[in-house]
Amino acid sequence: MTSEVSVTISVNGSEVTVPEGATILDACTQQGVDTPTICYGPTLTPVNACRVCVVEVEGNRTLVPSCSRPAEDGMVVHTDSDRVRHSRKMVLEFLGSGVDLSQAPEIMAWSDHYGADPGRYAVADAAIATMAQPAKVQDNLFVRDYDKCVLCYKCVEACGEDAQHTFAISIAGRGYGASVSTEYNTELPESACVYCGNCVGVCPTNALVFKSEFDMRNADQWRPDDQHVTTTVCSYCGVGCNLELHVQDNQIVKVTSPDDHSVTSGNLCIKGRFGYQYVNVRPPS
Ligand code: SF4
Ligand code: SF4
Ligand code: FES
Repeated sequence: MTSEVSVTISVNGSEVTVPEGATILDACTQQGVDTPTICYGPTLTPVNACRVCVVEVEGNRTLVPSCSRPAEDGMVVHTDSDRVRHSRKMVLEFLGSGVDLSQAPEIMAWSDHYGADPGRYAVADAAIATMAQPAKVQDNLFVRDYDKCVLCYKCVEACGEDAQHTFAISIAGRGYGASVSTEYNTELPESACVYCGNCVGVCPTNALVFKSEFDMRNADQWRPDDQHVTTTVCSYCGVGCNLELHVQDNQIVKVTSPDDHSVTSGNLCIKGRFGYQYVNVRPPS
């Protein structure tokens, strides 16, 4: 008979008990303490790229990323100290100074919460390689609008070891010139990409976005509040992936899968994610 080992830590003065191996972020969530995250994803290996989730741990010289640091028995954690607030504000200011966060409402809300002022670091848009690039539209499946990219690595992880194992993309370049790239910056159809769209599924800023959503936003027709989501099972093969059909005005506008589904963990293949248009075609009457 095995019994689960647990650890108890203090979060902002309250004791929280979590299973051994849980992160500080897990403990914060259990305690109802909201924590900003950008590069963290429940189905992805932590890469500690953004550092917006940092907390203060007594006895540690530096702030620690809560999304990856395991909780240890007796830890004393502060999530709202001056140091934490200042650090999170700075991270959000740096991010906001070089990318378009207009389609990342959660990040914008955290920026407001911490009083971030990206204008303190703003350089003219034209001087920032990230902002200067036009959206890459290569087909009717998805668009890469990298002026919205915060370099969180989630798409790279989803394309690589965490899901697809295709390894079609990585981060190339440095500073404001850094961007997500295929090998040798090859055009997507000539690259290793298999168009599963799992990168689109994890992107937190709409830098990777369904073509349908991209077009509807440009036409001022994207109305998430008027959409409903129907869960069904993909009919293309016998794997049994769960699909979430996002429907607006009786048309499917995009397809996702639940992160907590035992078959998909949020991932799909090209057929399940993009092969829905036939449903929208009505036979001539
Ligand atoms: S494209 Fe999206 S998921 Fe990929 S690094 Fe940029 S923001 Fe993150
Ligand atoms: S999404 Fe792809 S793998 Fe999953 S059931 Fe549909 S066709 Fe099969
Ligand atoms: S969310 Fe923890 S480092 Fe990015």
